[in-house]
Amino acid sequence: MTEPAHLAAVRESYDTVAADYLRLVVPPEGMDPVSRAVLAAFAELVRESGGGEVADLGCGPGRVTAYLAGLGLTAFGVDVSGKMIDLARRAHPGLHFRRGSMADLDLPDGTLGGILAWYSVHHTPPEQLPELFDEFARVLAPGGHLLLGGHAGETARLNPTRGYGHPVSYTSHLIPATRLAELLTAAGFTVTARLEQPNPRDGSRSYVCLLAESDTTPSHHPAPPAE
Ligand SMILES: C[S@@+](CC[C@H](N)C(=O)[O-])C[C@H]1O[C@@H](n2cnc3c(N)ncnc32)[C@H](O)[C@@H]1O
Repeated sequence: MTEPAHLAAVRESYDTVAADYLRLVVPPEGMDPVSRAVLAAFAELVRESGGGEVADLGCGPGRVTAYLAGLGLTAFGVDVSGKMIDLARRAHPGLHFRRGSMADLDLPDGTLGGILAWYSVHHTPPEQLPELFDEFARVLAPGGHLLLGGHAGETARLNPTRGYGHPVSYTSHLIPATRLAELLTAAGFTVTARLEQPNPRDGSRSYVCLLAESDTTPSHHPAPPAE
């Protein structure tokens, strides 16, 4: 499949910044207590629903994947940036990481216990979010959990020329948290919690966490093969 232009820009940019991303961005252990509490709540929800594999989509250098594993989940990571995947594999040799697009997952239908998308969906153009969330719903088992964490704000398209000390060519898309929740609902999710924290550096933006559960009715999932 041909790689869409926006994804090529994401891949090339994160390949360029990977080592400095790891150096500059705080690991989960250093995150604010609210974000860590939300990750812990997600882990508990997945464990309570019977566990199952959890995909960390847009896993970057794999630190949050490893954090989830430390919370008792069977977590693996997927990222479009080969350099990020190299860093993740080197730092966490006991975990599985693969290169790929979260929009086109090489995973069977209805198999995951959970999906984490932590600060990664803002690089997907908003008009492609319905398809992206359909893909998340496809791979989650009925009653599986999604935690989406990231930036929210008035709809805007941001084209920074530098990131993490390097030239970058990706686009970041902001949309309101309410819109993200609506799109998840349209994809068949039940949004079970929504938390917004103000961004202290920019009053027009916030950090949002949305917890959602995939449809428990089998009708949303393809019929099982006939006996
Ligand atoms: C800001 S970083 C966050 C990394 C990680 N979640 C963390 O919190 O450390 C965004 C990551 O998402 C990845 N990404 C963005 N869009 C993607 C897509 N469509 N498929 C796979 N990875 C993607 C980027 O390559 C990058 O590593």
